[in-house]
Amino acid sequence: MSLGVSNPKIDDQINHLFSEILVAQHEFMKTRGPDPEKSKFVSEKLAEYEKIRGRGFFYPLLATGRGHGPFTELFDGSVKFDLINSIGVNLLGHSHPIFIKSCLEAATMDTLMTGNLHLYEDPIELSKSIVSHVSKSRLKHFWFAGSGSFANDNAIKMIWQKSEGRTRILAAQKCFAGRSIATQDITHNLDYKKGMPTLLEVDHFPISESENLKDQISETISNLEATYSDQHCAITMELVQGEGGFNVYPRDLYKAVFDWAKGKKLFIWIDEIQSFGRTGELFAFQKLELDEYPDVVTVGKALQSCGTLFSSELNPKPGLIAGTFQGSLSSIKAGRKILKYLSMGNFFGAGGRVEEIRNKFEDKMNKLIKTSDGFFSSTSGIGLMFAFQIKDGNKDDTAKFIKKLFENGIICFSCGKNPYKIRFLLPLCLNEEHIDEIFQILNKTASEFNGN
Ligand SMILES: Cc1ncc(COP(=O)(O)O)c(C=O)c1O
Repeated sequence: MSLGVSNPKIDDQINHLFSEILVAQHEFMKTRGPDPEKSKFVSEKLAEYEKIRGRGFFYPLLATGRGHGPFTELFDGSVKFDLINSIGVNLLGHSHPIFIKSCLEAATMDTLMTGNLHLYEDPIELSKSIVSHVSKSRLKHFWFAGSGSFANDNAIKMIWQKSEGRTRILAAQKCFAGRSIATQDITHNLDYKKGMPTLLEVDHFPISESENLKDQISETISNLEATYSDQHCAITMELVQGEGGFNVYPRDLYKAVFDWAKGKKLFIWIDEIQSFGRTGELFAFQKLELDEYPDVVTVGKALQSCGTLFSSELNPKPGLIAGTFQGSLSSIKAGRKILKYLSMGNFFGAGGRVEEIRNKFEDKMNKLIKTSDGFFSSTSGIGLMFAFQIKDGNKDDTAKFIKKLFENGIICFSCGKNPYKIRFLLPLCLNEEHIDEIFQILNKTASEFNGN
């Protein structure tokens, strides 16, 4: 624990506040419908914000700051399951003791943010800890960034500086790397870059969808060969494509792609911004036993901090990578505790909680698929990244179903494109009772959707 000011009175009050907040947040432990009076307040507030922001919202979602575990309370009076974790941030669930403790500890410090000049102990300890968790790989360093996209921008700069003028990047089709000026060119979905010039030379290759692994590998390598030129410096991959539809491929396919890339002397950059902590190991490259390959790995979201892990070979020259902030002290403190919690708790590996939650979801969804007469189909993802399709996966029905789920008590989002899928990022705190209720809501929503 790294406190700023500390004395017995402060320590005692922190402990007292910690338990008072935790107990008060425990009130929000089950779903509840909205109150129509309060819904009006939400529409007005969001309309006000829409005017300033210039664009509206997918959901009428305005959170009160109260919630516990998978539940979050909204200003319309409802309490809902948060099965998207703010697009990946709240892996541990709401009002987790780690979040409360980190904020209270940070309140004893003399500033809110830590930076690269005025340094504190927390970023040092978080960096040491994250690097120690990738000791089987060649990743030896960690640099903080203000967002996942910026962590990716830094990865690109590190790669370019060591690539002697080669600047082209290979990326898988359907990938998502962020929305910065650099990463928008890597992100494959053209809808996200309308009117944008192409500034980064990125070549997208298709990963074969063949069901026969041998064919899948050889077709994917042929696709790579057809795309590759001697101007390429790196290949970037999400091992679990997030926005792209929770697509994950067999280990042997990734191994073949990375062996091919090493043969071409390409740097291997793995984007774990969404997958960090969710696949059944801390990193997806560990889950898939690909530790020997990455030269650079980017993280964000569930760590509460973003950054770039990189090998000694990619260590940049002074001046290339910098910036004012490393992050807020509360979120870096939380990152330290999260790493400890995830690695010491029984979450990962065979029989870990991630596997248990996944199996339970798969079982229940398979039963639903069998009885739903084609309404539900095809699950995808790994660990706590769980996606499924409704009907033929068309955009309108998928969005309509997601909005109906919201009304019935589940917050989630979509992923993929033709077919569009329903994306759940499951929080680690789900118990069996929660899972039963989630499936009751899915069932009920499907019946309502079908007009029964
Ligand atoms: C795989 C992946 N890479 C990069 C990003 C961009 O991160 P951020 O939104 O923090 O900039 C995201 C965000 O969704 C992501 O899922």
